[in-house]
Amino acid sequence: MNTNVQNNPHAARAENDRKVLVRDQTPHIFRPIAFRSVTVRNRITVSPMCQYSAHDGVANDWHFQHLASRAVGGAGIVFTEVTHVEPRGRITPYCLGLWNDEQRDALARIVRFVKAQGAAPGIQIGHAGRKGSTARPWDGGKPLTVEQGGWQPIAPSPIPFTDGYPAPLEMDRKMIDDTIALFAANTQRAREAGFDIVELHAAHGYLIHEFLSPLSNHRSDRYGGSFENRTRFLFEVIDAVRSEWPDTMPLFVRISSVDWLEGGWDLESSVRLAQMLKAGGKVDLIDCSSGALDPRQKIKIHPGYQVPFAAEIRSRAGIATGAVGLINAPDLAEQIVANGQADLIIMARGMLNDPYWPLHAAKTLKTKIPWPVQYERGDIF
Ligand SMILES: Cc1cc2nc3c(=O)[nH]c(=O)nc-3n(C[C@H](O)[C@H](O)[C@H](O)COP(=O)(O)O)c2cc1C
Repeated sequence: MNTNVQNNPHAARAENDRKVLVRDQTPHIFRPIAFRSVTVRNRITVSPMCQYSAHDGVANDWHFQHLASRAVGGAGIVFTEVTHVEPRGRITPYCLGLWNDEQRDALARIVRFVKAQGAAPGIQIGHAGRKGSTARPWDGGKPLTVEQGGWQPIAPSPIPFTDGYPAPLEMDRKMIDDTIALFAANTQRAREAGFDIVELHAAHGYLIHEFLSPLSNHRSDRYGGSFENRTRFLFEVIDAVRSEWPDTMPLFVRISSVDWLEGGWDLESSVRLAQMLKAGGKVDLIDCSSGALDPRQKIKIHPGYQVPFAAEIRSRAGIATGAVGLINAPDLAEQIVANGQADLIIMARGMLNDPYWPLHAAKTLKTKIPWPVQYERGDIF
């Protein structure tokens, strides 16, 4: 059980209401789900979303309102944007970090509030690899030189992301070991901050994905070449994270299920990886995203376009999955969970559009979920 339920009257009331609802044929997206010791109040998850608004990696009032308002809006899990394990692992100079205690304490304040609303706070942790050191999207998003406040990125192989990006520094063995240790230190601070769930960012062309994909990993040592070698870095990071993250707490992994390019990471690789993760018993859910390793990717986007990945991985690996990507209609979200294609619905842009999406979706699906008591008088439409 979410520990805050015991000493928070709002959460206790919500818990009680939920029990009644479940007996009453609640829509699937509003049914609770347990991951190890953490029970989440529904299947609606706020996807990690960079806000590019931190200074020195420290969360501030912007991050507070971003995460707090979505917990108030009824989401089951509220994920932070990716928090980076070291300064050169950031995407932009304005990304969040968790390499010092000041950063931990700023996140802890947000965690306390999110929990008090009955949502489970999750933290995504990662390293940007060769896609680090860029300007914020609204400043053009281009790579930054050292003179412009950037840094030299690191990667498994010295292959730039695309034209105009610098060649990253190829990681040597010591750099690999040091980076893995940074993931453990980041996780320790996440635990101290009070998060309920850790998600490893192994998707979207960032460092871990760069090791996984044969397009970005040309190494000839034990971290490159065969499938076993390319997945080794991820497994070592998982071991390091688990050394600091209790067995009672859930660990998710976000992957790019496919690179959308010939010769890249494909769905068979994802299924095989998920089967190994399931067998290893350290990971509880695969968050099934895709792409972003190489700008030559060819994607046909439509509502729910990545759901087939979540469904295939779930059925063939027997592990819980999260479906993400243009799932904005309540009916579609409901079908995905009801049909057993995924266990969680993970939403990004739809949640930017409407932080109260879960409260509104309940209306559309003709069910009732508890509103925060302070806002009950707004439940009029
Ligand atoms: C503003 C913004 C920031 C994002 N930042 C992250 C991030 O920090 N980590 C991550 O894994 N994905 C990130 N994404 C991708 C989303 O989590 C999500 O996978 C993607 O937007 C597709 O879901 P949607 O159609 O519901 O937006 C971001 C997306 C947006 C729109």
